[in-house]
Amino acid sequence: MSTELTWLGHGGWSLKTGTHAILLDPFLNDSPTAPFKAEQVEADFILVSHGHFDHIADVPEIAQRTKAQVIAIFEIAEWLSSTHGISHTLAMNIGGGVELSWGHVKMTPAVHSSCLPDGTYGGEPAGFKLEIDEKRMYFACDTGLFSDMQYLGHDGLDLAVVPIGDLFTMGPIDAIEAIKLLKPRRVAPAHYNTWPPIEQDVAAWAERVRSETSAEPVVLEPGQSFTI
Ligand code: NI
Ligand code: MN
Repeated sequence: MSTELTWLGHGGWSLKTGTHAILLDPFLNDSPTAPFKAEQVEADFILVSHGHFDHIADVPEIAQRTKAQVIAIFEIAEWLSSTHGISHTLAMNIGGGVELSWGHVKMTPAVHSSCLPDGTYGGEPAGFKLEIDEKRMYFACDTGLFSDMQYLGHDGLDLAVVPIGDLFTMGPIDAIEAIKLLKPRRVAPAHYNTWPPIEQDVAAWAERVRSETSAEPVVLEPGQSFTI
């Protein structure tokens, strides 16, 4: 069984396993690069890394329409319930894992900040490590470089997704260092080219990945997919 991953632009991903549709940080209606609007996507589960609007803005609408279960840190799950009446949540916290019908989800640390669009404290920012059909993938989500990435990759990663946009997250140079710590088989960049302040030369970055690391870069346009 394989999983199809589609980049939704910015930090957003759609994962289709053999049985389930999963969204991670969908940012669609207000993103200049998103290939879909929030009303067009299907989901059984939605993973939310942190509370910033460019990760959570569309989550209430999608969760209400699709009834997808929202997987997020405790504070965000509480906020979705108290402000949007969304009770079909799965609250987690950093370092915790859970076995679901379609795979294993572990919430990993991120070096970032997290407040919700109305100013509510969003708990700690997070990343996710997923194991689906024996494939291990790590979504760093919004983060700076941190040395514990070496542990996140120690049991072997088929894919790492790292931000390269700079300014709000790691930039391209730190992302190369992250790849050296994570040692994934393949690496996909995210959180760049959404707006001018986070524009990057992704082709030049991919060339550096090829020459300086053992990972194969997977560079997508928003809306493009690949299979793992
Ligand atoms: Ni953020
Ligand atoms: Mn962000």
